[in-house]
Amino acid sequence: MKNSQITVAGKRVLLGVTGGVAAYKAAELVRLMVKAGIDVRVVMTASATRFIGPVTMQALSGQPVLTDMWDARIPDNMAHIELSRDRDLIVIVPASANFIAKLANGLADDLLSTLCVARRCPLLVAPAMNVEMWGNAATQENVKRLVSRNIGIVGPAAGEQACGETGLGRMIEVEQIFANISSHFGPKPLLGKKVLVTAGPTYEPIDTVRGLTNLSSGKMGYAVAQAAIEAGATVTLVTGSTALAAPAGVERIDVQTARQMREAVLPRARKSDIFIGVAAVADYRPAETKAHKLKRGAGNLMIELVPNPDILGEVARLKNGPFCVGFAAETENLRAYAQEKRKKKNIPLLAANLAQHAFGQETNALTLFDDKGEHVLPKAEKIVLARQLMAHVIAMLPRRSR
Ligand code: CTP
Repeated sequence: MKNSQITVAGKRVLLGVTGGVAAYKAAELVRLMVKAGIDVRVVMTASATRFIGPVTMQALSGQPVLTDMWDARIPDNMAHIELSRDRDLIVIVPASANFIAKLANGLADDLLSTLCVARRCPLLVAPAMNVEMWGNAATQENVKRLVSRNIGIVGPAAGEQACGETGLGRMIEVEQIFANISSHFGPKPLLGKKVLVTAGPTYEPIDTVRGLTNLSSGKMGYAVAQAAIEAGATVTLVTGSTALAAPAGVERIDVQTARQMREAVLPRARKSDIFIGVAAVADYRPAETKAHKLKRGAGNLMIELVPNPDILGEVARLKNGPFCVGFAAETENLRAYAQEKRKKKNIPLLAANLAQHAFGQETNALTLFDDKGEHVLPKAEKIVLARQLMAHVIAMLPRRSR
């Protein structure tokens, strides 16, 4: 689903800004929304005004900015009710750990938190905070409570933070927040469908502390899960070890080895409509895992490897199984290898990329191979490619009997 196909013009959004360095990015989001024809009303917390001036938000949104419950511009002192009644959506950008905690507990001690409690419309939250604050058990519990109440969480991303530390917690880019807002208003062609996605690397232990793995970051698979959620599907993500947060609303199952991934995938694949294997599954594993740390010896060390199950191959062979999509990471002869792999695995769609351009990167370029030939998706952010891939899958679905 391309965001450019979604009409957002005329929608009414209330943008809530809370206190955090990322508040300056909210200004860019206002600009993007106004440019797309969205009617934007901004409400800021007192601490948000320490990071960015209400005048900036007022100039960009073209509407008065409110920060105070007792603002005399709302005649009957009912700002906390009236401000959200004509809105289609409330978005909190950035959402601080404190504000998320208030939302989780239904606290209403300022204008923005009160109008969130009093709202009738959906709520979308873009967290932004220090890595430790995001990882804190209290924050994680609060986020889970928001998800369980159908509040959308977009991000956070991993990377360098304003405080100088690195990790999960920085706000995702405003373009992605805008894409989430657009898709919120977009069609849901996969409503009622179950999508199963594998992502990330597998890890095959050699001994108690060492193992065989690969450089897959999981970013493409997580983006595919996100695109499926946006299209309205119920999504399960079976993932190898990554540093990523699962997209909000996705059921996440953590595994380590290919055999664990198979055990998690097979029963669920039978009940799914679509299976997308994005994981970089190790084709081989050590024949045995030593129960102690291997010691250095004098000569060469031989490790015998035995083949792992081909998860995608098995799912593709299921009777009445899901629509299967494979990924192929090649380092050369992309076209020839990809076509061969699609036929060998007997799957309707294969997305191929050059491993050296994909692993660990934010961007990728894909070529889709199906029974009609090849379709090039030029280099773009992984989430953009994932949405294009999902649009392709959706277009192929009616051609199938199930
Ligand atoms: N895959 C899988 N189980 C495996 C190996 C791969 O499910 N044991 C899936 C991957 O998730 C991906 C697709 O199969 O969707 C292609 O993976 P790849 O490793 O590129 O293909 P292979 O069949 O393993 O071929 P080769 O390694 O020879 O290129």
